[in-house]
Amino acid sequence: MATQRQRVALVTGGTTGIGAATCAALAAAGYTVAANFCGNADRARDFTNRTGVPTWQWSIADHDACRTGVRTVEAALGPIDILVNNAGITRDASLAKMAPEAWRDVIDTNLSGCFNMAHAVFADMRARKWGRIVSISSINGETGQFGQTNYAASKAGILGFTRALALEGARDGVTVNAVAPGYTDTDMVQAVPPDVLAGIVARIPVGRLAMPAEIARCITFLVAEDSGFITGATLDVNGGQRMG
Ligand code: CAA
Repeated sequence: MATQRQRVALVTGGTTGIGAATCAALAAAGYTVAANFCGNADRARDFTNRTGVPTWQWSIADHDACRTGVRTVEAALGPIDILVNNAGITRDASLAKMAPEAWRDVIDTNLSGCFNMAHAVFADMRARKWGRIVSISSINGETGQFGQTNYAASKAGILGFTRALALEGARDGVTVNAVAPGYTDTDMVQAVPPDVLAGIVARIPVGRLAMPAEIARCITFLVAEDSGFITGATLDVNGGQRMG
């Protein structure tokens, strides 16, 4: 890399699934990588032992915790140049059965989490005239999905958030993009009832789930030095399940 110091990347929900694959891909590409996690400290410890990527624990749904967490990571590793808003949850239920908490938890984590994290890094990225923010949306935010009014709303919201923030960063070298994965082989997708999942996979033209590394590859592309003209974009990675 032609910069004086290695770029520092922070990946939320970085110890599992797409997040863990993203940490691995960014580390392999020469970035200094930090992973945030919320709940599972044992898994985070295993992750660090396996990969050497350090982890910090806070909830991205908590605005103040994000600010404190970012400052702690920066004290250890240096200014955060790259933010990957990956952490997300599902609380699937049809609307008739959805508890208000299931709505709030998903919006607070998946959508407000992106705001909370961007809020903590964006001003400094602009001041340094360089930054990359990539947020993980979903095919289900584009198409809708039975049982996911909360999740689909949060993931569609990420697309609007991304486009608006892209305008605010454009003059200062800060790009803001979204990746919209299709169904990917993660714990989240494996939690879908097997018969339902089999029906979904049958409708994916490529005929299988994505591998987390295939999503991570797109994130690595979007954060690269020479991706500075790509901003406000949504990169669909869904095996042909949704086009256009
Ligand atoms: N389309 C239309 N009708 C459907 C339907 C669908 N996709 N799925 C269920 N129904 C119907 C049922 O046939 C049933 O109809 P009847 O009452 O006439 O028999 C009715 O809806 C059942 O409704 P319920 O409220 O009782 O639903 P449920 O409690 O049985 O379960 C569910 C609903 C929890 C949403 C379950 O269908 C489910 O888990 N679906 C999977 C949702 C999914 O794909 N989630 C993705 C998670 S992974 C992810 O999100 C990652 C990513 O980004 C891609």
